[in-house]
Amino acid sequence: MKIVLGIESSCDETAAALVTSGRAILAQRIASQDEAHRPYGGVVPEIAARAHAERLAPLIEGTLIDAGMKLDQVDAIAATAGPGLIGGVMVGLVTAKALAMATGKPLIAVNHLEGHALSPRLADASLEYPYLLLLVSGGHCQILLVEGVGRFRRLATTIDDALGEAFDKSAKVLGLGYPGGPALERLALEGDARKVALPRPLAGSAEPHFSFAGLKSAVLRAKQSMDQAAVAYSVADIAASFQQAAIDCLMDRLRRAFVGLGSVNALVVAGGVAANKAIRAALETLAAEQGLAFIAPPLELCTDNAAMIAWAGVERLGMGQSDPLDVAARPRWPLDPQAEAVRGAGVKA
Ligand code: KG4
Ligand code: ZN
Repeated sequence: MKIVLGIESSCDETAAALVTSGRAILAQRIASQDEAHRPYGGVVPEIAARAHAERLAPLIEGTLIDAGMKLDQVDAIAATAGPGLIGGVMVGLVTAKALAMATGKPLIAVNHLEGHALSPRLADASLEYPYLLLLVSGGHCQILLVEGVGRFRRLATTIDDALGEAFDKSAKVLGLGYPGGPALERLALEGDARKVALPRPLAGSAEPHFSFAGLKSAVLRAKQSMDQAAVAYSVADIAASFQQAAIDCLMDRLRRAFVGLGSVNALVVAGGVAANKAIRAALETLAAEQGLAFIAPPLELCTDNAAMIAWAGVERLGMGQSDPLDVAARPRWPLDPQAEAVRGAGVKA
């Protein structure tokens, strides 16, 4: 059995975890920076990088203490090497290089998106390749055919905003603060999704991709109308209508992706937005309709964490892979390098 130390620092969570090849999470610690970024209504890269630099080393130390382990007992050190905010990525990757150098253990440079994409396999030992993955986070919205470690076929992506970004920006417009996704989901429970007519961008379109910019703008217009005159809907109704429109877009695009798709073992969701219970419920219904198992990682493995990075490390180590000490930190790092570029390409604005 192998034990991998995982390090995550690509956005606003500083995280470390120890995961075994037997799928046990021996220990994990996460330091969220929500408070530091809240006054700005979004992640400030410079603040994030400084916070990672301050917190990461003690966090790793604490994770080892929680597991009752010494650093030289781990078999490899895995860290996010991109994509993400480059200052933070460098803090995590350079820390991992130093630890690998000091211990003589292999270094594994993990693609953060691969961490999300393989996290369902950490949670569920029965999940075999290939599977159809909806990857929905703050920076990405993609449908991927996952054929193996490092083997991804991107079937669809967003031509403008990522879904998490649309949740966060809509939440901001509705005055829900930061981070907005979870707050919008809570408010939507109190609203009526039929009250506000919002668009379903690209639904029914022959091209496979997503678009959320028009939906986000429609939320802004609905809120502005409300501020200017009496209307027959509430902020909660806008939240519920937004969430339903987003779900309808996801279902429409996934149904299209299933057309002509070869045999897959499951419909899988991953990434921060996969924490949304209404989206999970809709995906479960869609999977049943397609005669497929539906697999979603537990909520704490959906949002950014280091256990998923350690697990991607476990999978790569198992294939005899590791990286040299001069491996680069990458602000952009597509899972499927063959995929054609589309407008926006789902990169955070
Ligand atoms: O994967 P993640 O933690 O970070 C990135 O790699 O982007 O995803 C964060 C995104 C944010 O946009 C956040 O608002 C969204 O996931 N999110 C949610 C929920 N929980 C997190 N969106 C909708 N509903 C939720 N419950
Ligand atoms: Zn992420």
